[in-house]
Amino acid sequence: MIDQATIDKIMAATDIVDVVSDFVSLRRRGANYWGLCPFHDDRSPSFSVSPSKGVCKCFSCGKGGSAIHFIMEHEQLSYYEALKYLAKKYNIEVHEKELTDEERQKRSDRENMFVINTFAQEFFSKSLLETDEGRTVGLAYFKERGFNEDIIRKFGLGYSPEKRDALAQEAQKRGYKIDYLLKTGLCRENQNHNIYDLFSGRVMFPVYSVSGKVVAFGGRILKSGVKISKYFNSPESDIYHKSDELYGIYQAKRAIEKERCCYLVEGYTDVLSMHQSGIENVVASSGTALTHGQIRLIHRFTDNITVLYDGDAPGIKASLRGIDLILQEGLNIKVVLLPDGEDPDSFSKSQSAESFTRYIKEHETDFIRFKTQLLLEDAGEDPIKRAAIISNIVESISLIPDAIVRSVYVQECSRLLQIDEQVLLSELNKRRQHRAEQQATRSRYNTTTATSTQQSTTATQPTQVPPAHTATDSTETPPPHALDDVPAPVDTEATSHPGGDSFSQQIARYSPLEKYEREIIRYIMRYGYRNLFETADGSWQKVWEYIVEELSIDSIELSNPLYRKIIELTAAQREHEAQQLSQLRSEWQAKARQQIDEAIEQIRLESGDIAEKQKKEAKAQEQITRAMDEELQTFETNFLERYFTTYPDSEISLLAVDLVSEKYQLSKVHTKFQKVETETDRLWELIPRAIYELKNAILEQSIKQIQEQLKEATQAKDDQRVNELIEQNVELNRVRTTLAKQIGDRIISPR
Ligand code: CTP
Ligand code: MN
Repeated sequence: MIDQATIDKIMAATDIVDVVSDFVSLRRRGANYWGLCPFHDDRSPSFSVSPSKGVCKCFSCGKGGSAIHFIMEHEQLSYYEALKYLAKKYNIEVHEKELTDEERQKRSDRENMFVINTFAQEFFSKSLLETDEGRTVGLAYFKERGFNEDIIRKFGLGYSPEKRDALAQEAQKRGYKIDYLLKTGLCRENQNHNIYDLFSGRVMFPVYSVSGKVVAFGGRILKSGVKISKYFNSPESDIYHKSDELYGIYQAKRAIEKERCCYLVEGYTDVLSMHQSGIENVVASSGTALTHGQIRLIHRFTDNITVLYDGDAPGIKASLRGIDLILQEGLNIKVVLLPDGEDPDSFSKSQSAESFTRYIKEHETDFIRFKTQLLLEDAGEDPIKRAAIISNIVESISLIPDAIVRSVYVQECSRLLQIDEQVLLSELNKRRQHRAEQQATRSRYNTTTATSTQQSTTATQPTQVPPAHTATDSTETPPPHALDDVPAPVDTEATSHPGGDSFSQQIARYSPLEKYEREIIRYIMRYGYRNLFETADGSWQKVWEYIVEELSIDSIELSNPLYRKIIELTAAQREHEAQQLSQLRSEWQAKARQQIDEAIEQIRLESGDIAEKQKKEAKAQEQITRAMDEELQTFETNFLERYFTTYPDSEISLLAVDLVSEKYQLSKVHTKFQKVETETDRLWELIPRAIYELKNAILEQSIKQIQEQLKEATQAKDDQRVNELIEQNVELNRVRTTLAKQIGDRIISPR
């Protein structure tokens, strides 16, 4: 457990743009930052980060939240683990309550697996660098291959001792559970129930996730010519999905972003050698065909991939298919063939970073051109083979999401294949049409089986400009976002966490009152501690106080239990808020006094008559005081927003994020004053109206009920009941009129 003061400190230090940037490449647009969403298959930036609100959100899949949520989701951590992650990032000391045995038990398996992998990585590294066996065997091997100690440390390389249970023994001695040694695949159990190490006698390559956690290991044998697999790799596990990881991504991500390009190679040693020669934007697919998940990982940092092939690589043709995936993802892909007999490992040893990079730049070929040439060489003049190639290439081109890029390729291939452009185009359109139809069928199916949550996801799609593509495009390519800053989800009724809503939330969505209650909660979360009305005794009533009072006057309880809880929590923050406010006030008062003194001194130094100076002084004083008041008000306005968006229960904090990210279209420019009116300027009118609308909805509901009962009573000829109901109906209608009048009065008396 972490205490509230520490949480506050962590949140104060946390910069959401900085946090998200560790995983997503962000570009600024207006007040917000945008990037590709790391939580779904995103092709155009839908993920927005608002530094002022401290939240992020994908306008396509709905995922997001505060920096804590982002880390929880992205790193699959618990709330407290995510806080500790942030604390570590910002060097904040965490005072953690000692875990009880039960709590320790509760730590998830995943966390324990990471812990044991980290331990193993350190163990292998120490064995390599600090033991005789490691130095004479492992380190000597790495040295012989030309790797220096810097690179060895940077990639956490290690050595697993020959002794069959060296790691197992050490781990158990340190109190780690065998269970996790087995789950991570570091150790195995034989028939005699002995635990032995998987990697013994191998040099070790830890595989780091994009955030730098050890998810797996590769271990290489040292001897050549033995009939045993050159590399052993950790098995798939809860923390290791081979197809979602790329070797080197953690060490490469900054460079990829900086160089705006990622080099893709085959093996561990290729990555290491290139780093050592100074080329750091490089990752390895580790000998397997590239997967969708891996491409997405790269796409978070750049749009450009260059694949480096060994000069005589036998597998080039086999790998072409994997590359189609890259095209589909909308990435630009180039291919470089290294000189005969060279792989990136060997080639970088004979080159400087500059000459290697120059070689790449000079020999880079566009993938489609490369593929066409490669296949053509193979086919010779055989007409049947040539026809097959054409269809193969057209398939590749048809996967490219961008229409302009496609048309450039069609021209190019028409030239290379000596085929009329129109023929290629019609073939290509046929394929796109076909895929579009297939997709439409799939999504029709999805809609009919969709749950309410899925539908609400579509409902919160941002307003988008229609795509400027051909008709077939619109079904496949997500249209680009409007260029204005916030693609506001205007629909206020839907929360947008696919699958993330609790049952009670889903039910609540069907309540006729939900929409009105949600709006009221939005005002509380967004402005709760802001002053709203000045009372007769000169003090101020805050937004939440006004709302609570208004509800209690008519004994209204919100029907949604989540909202009731939010109101409770809001009220419970009263002291905490007051205490923080008074602390801030005294700090700012001191600051303001100093500023006023300085201003006065300045004015006194100026020339001019006394009266003039006094006027100036008064003005300066007023200005500074007003600035201070505004700052205090900003603090109060944002107080609950901060509290709720970082609240441990994610049902609440995610709702808060949704509510604070919604933007309303009410701002209109008063041409006369040239002033944009914001929601904040009109709270005095909007909040009473929201309350009125809720009350009115409740009334309408009751009136409807009574009318139904009236119908029944009439049919049953129960005259007494009919009379009763008519009276009630009259009464309710009177209340309705009074209410309408009240709201009218309130609105024409601005504060
Ligand atoms: N690989 C593997 N298992 C094997 C062979 C290869 O997992 N039996 C994977 C490894 O990730 C390796 C990559 O495929 O890094 C490329 O294979 P290769 O080029 O043979 O290995 P290198 O990393 O280049 O290793 P070395 O140069 O030491 O032979
Ligand atoms: Mn190699």
